[in-house]
Amino acid sequence: MLMHVFLFLGALSCYIFIKRNRRDTSKLPPGSLGWPYIGETLQLYSQDPNVFFAKKQKRYGEIFKTHILGCPSIMLASPEAARFVLVNQAHLFKPTYPKSKENLIGPLALFFHQGEYHTRLRKLVQGSLSLDNLRRLVPDIEAIAVSALDSWAAGHVINTFHEMKKLSFEVGILAIFGHLEATQKEQLKENYSILDKGYNSFPTKLPGTPYKKAFLARKRLQEILKEIISERREKRVTEKDLLGSLLNSKDEKGGVLSEDQIADNIIGVLFAAQDTTASALTWILKYLHDHQKLLDTVKAEQKVIYESNDNGNLHLTWAQTRNMPITYKVIMESLRMASIISFTFREAVTDVKYKGYLIPKGWKVMPLFRNIHHNPEFFPNPQEFDPSRFEVAPKPNTFMPFGSGVHACPGNELAKLEMLIMVHHLVTRYRWEVEGSESGIQYGPFPIPMHGFPARFHKESVEEKRRICGAS
Ligand code: HEM
Ligand SMILES: *[C@@H]1O[C@H](CO)[C@@H](O)[C@H](O)[C@H]1NC(C)=O
Repeated sequence: MLMHVFLFLGALSCYIFIKRNRRDTSKLPPGSLGWPYIGETLQLYSQDPNVFFAKKQKRYGEIFKTHILGCPSIMLASPEAARFVLVNQAHLFKPTYPKSKENLIGPLALFFHQGEYHTRLRKLVQGSLSLDNLRRLVPDIEAIAVSALDSWAAGHVINTFHEMKKLSFEVGILAIFGHLEATQKEQLKENYSILDKGYNSFPTKLPGTPYKKAFLARKRLQEILKEIISERREKRVTEKDLLGSLLNSKDEKGGVLSEDQIADNIIGVLFAAQDTTASALTWILKYLHDHQKLLDTVKAEQKVIYESNDNGNLHLTWAQTRNMPITYKVIMESLRMASIISFTFREAVTDVKYKGYLIPKGWKVMPLFRNIHHNPEFFPNPQEFDPSRFEVAPKPNTFMPFGSGVHACPGNELAKLEMLIMVHHLVTRYRWEVEGSESGIQYGPFPIPMHGFPARFHKESVEEKRRICGAS
């Protein structure tokens, strides 16, 4: 626990101190700021963070102040407040990340930015991940999913989360580069995994530390990307993948993006795509495993598609992936239950008034997605896994697994497509059992099932499949 605290204390940097006498603090939202500097960080990390937020919300309501990770912060637990910060008044709140993390990913990656530069890059990323482009990726994503599943079914126990990370990395590479040469892909993979290991470690330049190693790996990634870029330029082909869009982009004055801008955004997208999708997929497997009846209905839905594809001999089509209503609801409910991005951070760029409360300039603002997703007012019996609740659309701004507003996730359709394809192949041809009985949640920093959900996968024999299909 203490390790956790020290990891994070150095991480966020706040250059402001609360000047209790100079500012009119009577208009601040309710809440307690705890001890100086440490604030309420100890309370936050000494218990399940969700319990911490929920307790506060119960005591103070939809908006309250606290002091965590060295920063005075205001937490927002209502759909309206989240909308205010992320959508309506988004220009008054800028993204804010620890410098040490920004440097590892690349300071020019879009999610650190606001305004013109952000808009330009966002259009490019969104365009490359448009439905039209994703449609063409179906066969390749399918091949990645099938080959992953085959490799798991060798009988040994696998760490589901780790394996899902390999899968989401492959899909990320596909969306960014299209087909990449094998050695380049291998080099990217090796170096990126070093970066990944150091990302949540204590930021220090001491040699041999995970952070320093990550920093060096980031430099090598830059070199590899430069090589890929120059090769692509020589070929003079205009691809529709993300690299192609970034290379072809010209602003009104004809200005192109620099190599650093391109590289930072490529690493940024890889980063945004990997752990999020892997964590979601791991939760889906866990929830399906824990709800066998539901698994049967998902199987029945997928079986129909499987059979219409000549028992899996034909490829899954885009149209089929758009018509998996039960599986889709399972994915939505998994995203709600797990709320992988529990909250996000913004920083007020000026003094802002919200419902009579003051949000002072420089303070962190945190929309609490998980609290909204677990509020019984919007989702009755919130602790119950019940995909049927998505038969009616959630109320506006109550369901934000992919965020909202100008920084909302541009990869959400790709993530959903990947999950649908994976579930199709998983449930039609495999079964899985959990290894060990430990339940619980682990934070890394995204929530995942304990120990990454160790499991054994088995390919179903033809007889077994007949039996199951016949029964359903
Ligand atoms: C289940 C998987 C995923 C989840 C739950 C998820 C969630 C999110 C959320 C909540 C945000 C907004 C963060 C904020 O407002 O502070 C976000 C942003 C972003 N996501 Fe995702 N994401 C997922 C998968 C992906 C994938 C597959 C990609 C790319 C291929 C991606 C790329 C991005 C990018 C580039 C941003 C930053 C957008 C901006 O700042 O304008 N994400 N994601
Ligand atoms: C990282 O990238 C470099 C190229 O810059 C490559 O030589 C090396 O094999 C890659 N892998 C590791 C683990 O360093």
